[in-house]
Amino acid sequence: MLLEIPRPNIREFDFLVVGSGVAGLFTALHLTEHGKVAVITKDRLTESNTEYAQGGIAVALQEDDDPRDHEHDTLEAGAGLCDPEAVRILTVEGPDAVRELMRLGMRFDRRGGELIYGREAAHGRRRILHASGDETGHEVERALSRRASVHPGIEVFENTLLTDLLVVEGRSVGIAALSLPESDRLRFIAPVTVLATGGLGQVYETSTNPPVTTGDGMAAAWRAGCGLRDMEFVQFHPTALYDEGSPKFLISEALRREGAVLRNTAGEHFMPPYHPQNDLAPRDVVARAVVDQMRRERTDHVYLDFSPIPHERFLSRFPGIVAELARRGFDIYQERIPVCPVAHYMMGGITADINARTELPGLLAVGECTSLGVHGANRLASNSLLDGLVFGLRAAALAPKLPKLSYELLGVVAQMTPALVRCAQVAVRDHLRKLMKECAGVERNGEALAQAREVVSGWCGQVATVPSASREEVETANLLTVARLIIEGAIARQESRGAHYRTDFPEISED
Ligand code: SIN
Repeated sequence: MLLEIPRPNIREFDFLVVGSGVAGLFTALHLTEHGKVAVITKDRLTESNTEYAQGGIAVALQEDDDPRDHEHDTLEAGAGLCDPEAVRILTVEGPDAVRELMRLGMRFDRRGGELIYGREAAHGRRRILHASGDETGHEVERALSRRASVHPGIEVFENTLLTDLLVVEGRSVGIAALSLPESDRLRFIAPVTVLATGGLGQVYETSTNPPVTTGDGMAAAWRAGCGLRDMEFVQFHPTALYDEGSPKFLISEALRREGAVLRNTAGEHFMPPYHPQNDLAPRDVVARAVVDQMRRERTDHVYLDFSPIPHERFLSRFPGIVAELARRGFDIYQERIPVCPVAHYMMGGITADINARTELPGLLAVGECTSLGVHGANRLASNSLLDGLVFGLRAAALAPKLPKLSYELLGVVAQMTPALVRCAQVAVRDHLRKLMKECAGVERNGEALAQAREVVSGWCGQVATVPSASREEVETANLLTVARLIIEGAIARQESRGAHYRTDFPEISED
């Protein structure tokens, strides 16, 4: 089928950045001194996982802190699968990256003019910067999107959905996209494309992630022949608000650090037998303990008891959570809040090196869509925004040095037949999300994973390639791709490590 794309729908830039969370916008802003940048994002500029981040930014910025201690904590959390060089870079380059973020307008919480450092689970000391208590991600997006939206070197394309990477002679030359909601076909051409498309929380029935997180960049990179790795490592957050029928909402683990405790329906504080750190045990341990309690009590939630936290402290430290709970009709002064574990963060993703370079020449990847070795089998709290900053800067330093597109190659690109769009029936989506929660969730086992593989393969077989499709159809096809990769990874990893727990292989393998 030969389809013409009208010339105005083909745009050329020096750099394409796909995605507008912390990694995408930080990279884009630092590319502007080297050329014309397009920021392409499928929703509003500010809609991303970053916007909803309640944790902060972990960074060894204080004089008496040492990046080596931050490195140690990160490696511990990663359960043997971190790339030590990537972690060294994250922690050593973190302070400069955070100073640069502040130069761009980020306002962290301060007392008497001095930055306030908080402590979160598994960090050996206070080193987490927050903004407005629990609204760090919102402030990051505010600061960066404000600059990006008025920067003369950046053109922003909102409501523009990546459908595929354009690959010619073994290198990335840009992307194919759809403008929404019309689903008009677009093509963006550039010698360097930076994927910053974020996570895939929507592949699970319940997640802290917003609806945009459908693994689009990971799926497109996979189709273009890039390697993806560590896809079995999905972090489940133990305490999302359980509010039947409504989107899940993260109840930050910082609340437990302030004194909140988990209780079962019988009112028992159940964590002590599971781990010496009780409610502050690593996230995966708490998530499994909650699942265990829910199984024993045949319920789908447990409770968070905030009563140990002084009300003044609760209001000043967690204004966003207080407001959202009130909006949903919960009275934090009178009742315990129902919570349950949900998908939160993808540690795996597009394989990339310490400069964000993927296996496809001309393609870089930063932020949650990539796996460059900093998170291993489990991400340390508040390391994800830092990851986006540090490796965003590295990507922006490398991109201008990559080869330009030759005239010959541009000629080939201009002649290219537009790629067809992959689409799946939207009706499959809810079934897929339930299946993933049941078979590839907090606990997995070989038998359930094998069944899930069969079902998902069947759905993948029904994916059609068509000239155009709706956002939901394209996203559903992408969700099927990343679901298959998670399942394959979980089947192959016959051990329990970090966030990946196999009931049939409950121990860590020494091999
Ligand atoms: C939280 O605040 O509980 C989540 C923080 C994070 O995911 O880093």
